[in-house]
Amino acid sequence: MEYRVKDLSLAKEGERRIDWAEAHMPVLVALRKKYGETKPLKGIRVTGCLHVTKETGVLVRTLKAAGAEITWCGCNPLSTQDDVAASLAKHEGIGVFASRGVSTKEYYDDIHSAMKLNPHVTIDDGADLTVEMHKAMEKGRDGDIAGPVYGGTEETTTGVIRLRAMQKAGRLLYPIISVNDAETKHDFDNVYGTGQSALDGIIRATNVLLSGKSVVVAGYGHVGKGIARRAAGLGANVTVTEVEPIAALKAKLDGYSVATMNEAASVGDIFITTTGCKDVIVSDDIANMKDGAILANAGHFNVEISIPDLEKQSTGHKEVNQHTMQYDLKNGSRVYLIGEGRLVNLAAAEGHPSEVMDMSFANQFLAVLKLAASKGTMKPIVYDIDKAQDQDIAMAKLQSMGVAIDVLTPEQQTYLEGFAEGT
Ligand SMILES: NC(=O)c1ccc[n+]([C@@H]2O[C@H](COP(=O)([O-])OP(=O)(O)OC[C@H]3O[C@@H](n4cnc5c(N)ncnc54)[C@H](O)[C@@H]3O)[C@@H](O)[C@H]2O)c1
Repeated sequence: MEYRVKDLSLAKEGERRIDWAEAHMPVLVALRKKYGETKPLKGIRVTGCLHVTKETGVLVRTLKAAGAEITWCGCNPLSTQDDVAASLAKHEGIGVFASRGVSTKEYYDDIHSAMKLNPHVTIDDGADLTVEMHKAMEKGRDGDIAGPVYGGTEETTTGVIRLRAMQKAGRLLYPIISVNDAETKHDFDNVYGTGQSALDGIIRATNVLLSGKSVVVAGYGHVGKGIARRAAGLGANVTVTEVEPIAALKAKLDGYSVATMNEAASVGDIFITTTGCKDVIVSDDIANMKDGAILANAGHFNVEISIPDLEKQSTGHKEVNQHTMQYDLKNGSRVYLIGEGRLVNLAAAEGHPSEVMDMSFANQFLAVLKLAASKGTMKPIVYDIDKAQDQDIAMAKLQSMGVAIDVLTPEQQTYLEGFAEGT
């Protein structure tokens, strides 16, 4: 199959790293064994637009084992692991169009190349593929989407927000299963996965000591909560900024300082944005920062720290570490931007640990099976993951960890479902 990767000679290293991830993804591997025999995806064309990491490699192997024909592209210009892309092309025979550090044009060219498969099912992270599919379906652009498209899946909060907006505007043309809305996804991947790997990215890029530092976390949702807790665990003093009063109150009662970004700007040593919103850190904030402040983003798009404002405030910039750019401000201070303001855990580290992606990608895989089996009979709306699927994945994960839990007796079940008095 046609592919476009940076360096095919990295394939062996990529294979080794996918094997490592696989050893830490027992739920997904069990699904592969189960469906590898019946091959429910035989004849199904799947196009994925998801960070090309070693964990994604395990998902791709699983889809292939279930019989799917696959093309793949990255969902962020700076997140592709080139060795993994090479391995998927060389060892798995997948039509991969992805390299790290592509321009915006190359990024969309890769999406359009992957779309040429004319997929029955799309897998997305951030909704760029789904939006491009819709443009092609609406306007006949690229002329390659002959259909039928049975549906798609969406991995992240920002993508689900975009797709629900498309549904509201009456623009959604095929059903989407929101994998992000599975509890076994957002309560683990976003919290523990990004919580750990975002700090990993900052540490790899700077090797600064977090203990004793003032860390400002913008947004106290799933991702923000995970990062704040881990930063505090490493001895940082955490300040949270929020726009939503309940989230702000939770942060306050969890023991953090809560402030506006305007107040926090002059206090922070390290700033981490996690909001999914734009212009969270802008000109005035940057001008008020301490000399040496470090800026990183863990939200999906590189719009949270305003790069145009950072450039406006600066006289110049230079790379001082791999993944770390020093901006010299007009007021004489320096601030450091990690990973171009793109998701720091993927730009400067390896993304989420395999153990949490095990659950996220088990949800992805089962959602693809459901869409394939529907053969286009589902309505063009955004669906949640079935509660039963969520619980099955949690139980399988517990079992893989050797953890048993209690089971309700029939009497307890009746008690919980009824309105008997407590005596
Ligand atoms: N880096 C990764 O690997 C990774 C993983 C999962 C999710 N994400 C992305 O991270 C972002 C957050 O995801 P989440 O699941 O935590 O979402 P969430 O909805 O749970 O939390 C976002 C929080 O940010 C707050 N917020 C919004 N605008 C704000 C602003 N201007 N200032 C301060 N706070 C603001 C909201 O009130 C909310 O509490 C999304 O873009 C998501 O796609 C990234």
